Amino acid sequence: MDLNSEYVLTTDHLTKKYGTQISVNNLSIHLKKGQIYGLLGKNGAGKSTTMKMILGLIKPSSGIYSLFGKDMSRISNSDLKTVLARVGNTIESPGFYPNLTGTENLRIFARLRKLPEGTIEDSLKKLKLPYKDKKLFSEYSLGMKQRLAIANATMNSPELLILDEPINGLDPEGIVDIRKLLIDLSQNHGTTILISSHILSEIQLVANDIGIIDNGALLIESSLKELIEQNSNSFIFKASNSASIARAAKILEQQFKLRDVTIVDEQTLSIGHAITNSAEVIKTFINNDIDIQMAYLEEGTLENYFKSITNEGSHND
Ligand SMILES: Nc1ncnc2c1ncn2[C@@H]1O[C@H](COP(=O)(O)OP(=O)(O)O)[C@@H](O)[C@H]1O
Ligand SMILES: [Mg+2]
Repeated sequence: MDLNSEYVLTTDHLTKKYGTQISVNNLSIHLKKGQIYGLLGKNGAGKSTTMKMILGLIKPSSGIYSLFGKDMSRISNSDLKTVLARVGNTIESPGFYPNLTGTENLRIFARLRKLPEGTIEDSLKKLKLPYKDKKLFSEYSLGMKQRLAIANATMNSPELLILDEPINGLDPEGIVDIRKLLIDLSQNHGTTILISSHILSEIQLVANDIGIIDNGALLIESSLKELIEQNSNSFIFKASNSASIARAAKILEQQFKLRDVTIVDEQTLSIGHAITNSAEVIKTFINNDIDIQMAYLEEGTLENYFKSITNEGSHND
């Protein structure tokens, strides 16, 4: 059985050092076919460096990666070209000419890839950019430049699309457009997408899988669904002493048949989900001489989780 066939891209302890600084540290990520993978991390976390290694623009210091099941550390030059032709990216796009229009810029890349003229108009339209227009690239807004980079990256219908912070510089309407485009590519065309961002809420709306990176290292890799489930609401009870907390836990487990009860500390008890019968629970506690002092729903958000783990990461070095 070929374990790799499910994956379009895997990295295995991928590492990049610049002198003594480690920009990417033993990173192992796994992109499944047709999924949108969000690489999430603060500025300087190592996202762009990771993408540049995957695209062969810089050489890893150690570790390996494979694209479409091919070990890229052992690949021949001709195979490398074939593999990279199946990948679209926005990292190399500063290569646009300022004194040419968007259409003229795309035409250069289309010819290099031997794509017909029609694809230029199609991809510009998809990104809501003008086809017949005199506006030069130098006159483009940041949002338009970003759209042109994505038009260029998607022009040859790549199987893997690598987008480095594509939302940067876009207005809210532009963000919605790009989000729709990415979801369409993944759901209707089977395109696998690696997208980086430092903003969780952006990743959260498109990605199926998430890798959180901090100081070059992967902190967690998970499906978005699981991550949200693990960070869902909890119901908290506070009492003045550990004996009360222990008794309360017993009642919740035995009488209310709850399985996700955790004693957080001597004065705190947590149920791993929201409950609707809190009044009944409190009444039972009081009847059992438990001095409940507080009872409340604590809303867990992925945002809080992301903040807490990335802050912890920076304390560790
Ligand atoms: N060419 C380079 N030389 C030295 N350090 C670099 C180089 N490129 C990136 N770095 C450093 O590597 C770390 C990760 O950078 P980068 O991958 O650009 O992060 P991100 O894209 O997540 O913001 C940063 O500390 C950055 O300063
Ligand atoms: Mg970057």
